[in-house]
Amino acid sequence: MVTSAMAERRFPSDFRWGTATSSHQVEGGNVRNDWWLFEQQPGRIKGGDRSGLACDWWRNAEADFDRMAALHQNAHRLSLEWSRLEPEEGRWDDAAVARYRQMLHGLRSRAIEPVVTLQHFTLPRWAAAGGGWESPRIVGWFAGYARRCAECFGDLAEAWVPINEPNVVVTLGYIMGRFPPAAHNILRAPRVTRHLLRAHAAAYRAIHAVGPRARVGTAHNIRILDPGPAPSRLAAALDRRAADANSWAFNWVWLDVLSGRAAHRVRRIGQVEECAGTVDFIGVNYYTREHVRFDPWRPQGGFLRSLRVPGEARSDGDYGEVYPEGLRRVLLDVWQRYRRPIYVTENGLPDADDDLRPRFLYDHLAALHAALEAGVEVRGYYHWSLIDNFEWTDGWALKFGLIAVDPATQRRTERPSARLYAEICRSGALPGADVLREFAQRP
Ligand code: FCB
Repeated sequence: MVTSAMAERRFPSDFRWGTATSSHQVEGGNVRNDWWLFEQQPGRIKGGDRSGLACDWWRNAEADFDRMAALHQNAHRLSLEWSRLEPEEGRWDDAAVARYRQMLHGLRSRAIEPVVTLQHFTLPRWAAAGGGWESPRIVGWFAGYARRCAECFGDLAEAWVPINEPNVVVTLGYIMGRFPPAAHNILRAPRVTRHLLRAHAAAYRAIHAVGPRARVGTAHNIRILDPGPAPSRLAAALDRRAADANSWAFNWVWLDVLSGRAAHRVRRIGQVEECAGTVDFIGVNYYTREHVRFDPWRPQGGFLRSLRVPGEARSDGDYGEVYPEGLRRVLLDVWQRYRRPIYVTENGLPDADDDLRPRFLYDHLAALHAALEAGVEVRGYYHWSLIDNFEWTDGWALKFGLIAVDPATQRRTERPSARLYAEICRSGALPGADVLREFAQRP
């Protein structure tokens, strides 16, 4: 994608340049949620790792806020930890409110505009014990929590994401059994989906009721599923159908419901009509694509099997293919389907030695720029992540940070791509490929 002849590509002057994090992955000491309990169970997390002190943000996020500012970032997506704010059902913790107010103020005083996620994978223990996303009561619990958050923090934040990646919650939590509550039962998925959608919609209304100027959107994981090379035309047709059906179930059904598009198709899910028209913007979390093949023996996997296509570039830990063109495709698809402003609310890769990240960043931002040129309204980019952090079941093994973190010493070390991104954030433009080479070649 990069050619040295390419001129500098400019982004809109009000474009948001930032990074994204989540409470459990960076704060440390989040002992009152379901993930903390899950981490204590043998065999759940790679290498027996635990979140522990994480990146020590509860005590000192401000040191990393200084780093964001020094790297010319003007935006940050962070999450509030429900289990801190409401450690027991109905008991609100004023000290936690004060600390989050201090953090949000800390961002704003550095000219970093926050996007606030209300729930990023973790549930308070009491909510999980009460049935979690399977209980219809969670819709009311979550709406109450969202309303309190809007009242407590609405003067410090305008952009809100109620639930991070609900499609990942269903897939990994209830079908593949890799996230809490570790269920392997696809039959539980529709009920959980319904509650996640209704909780989002209830939060949307609660936040708007408190702050009419608020903007409420998604941070939705979109995974490209492309059929791989097939041995016959029949096989190719089956692969395509299976890929499209799974893509609808994983990627689009959520946004179709929330945007109010294709109401006749989504009515089958039941009781979700109230959710239509509850997204002011669409946040896209884009990481990778998968090549797939129809497989009648894999019902739990949506009758799909992943393929490795020779020549694919892949990131650390076999996390996935590096496929920048996918970002352009996804942005165009989302724009064509929904015509809402879009933010890239996450995009990144695990790459401990930073040999792929500079080019990854450059090529993905070039793809985003191509989408802008095609008329897509993209308003910001939040790289995942500023710092290495606790990567769920992969523990500390996968390094997503522009800045490396040693969790034992809390020492930070900038990777070369941090500087490349800083240069892009500072200038609001993608430099020529010669600049990329300069950063990519640094040790
Ligand atoms: C996303 C999650 C985020 C992080 C990245 C790597 O799916 O939202 O918390 O784990 O993947």
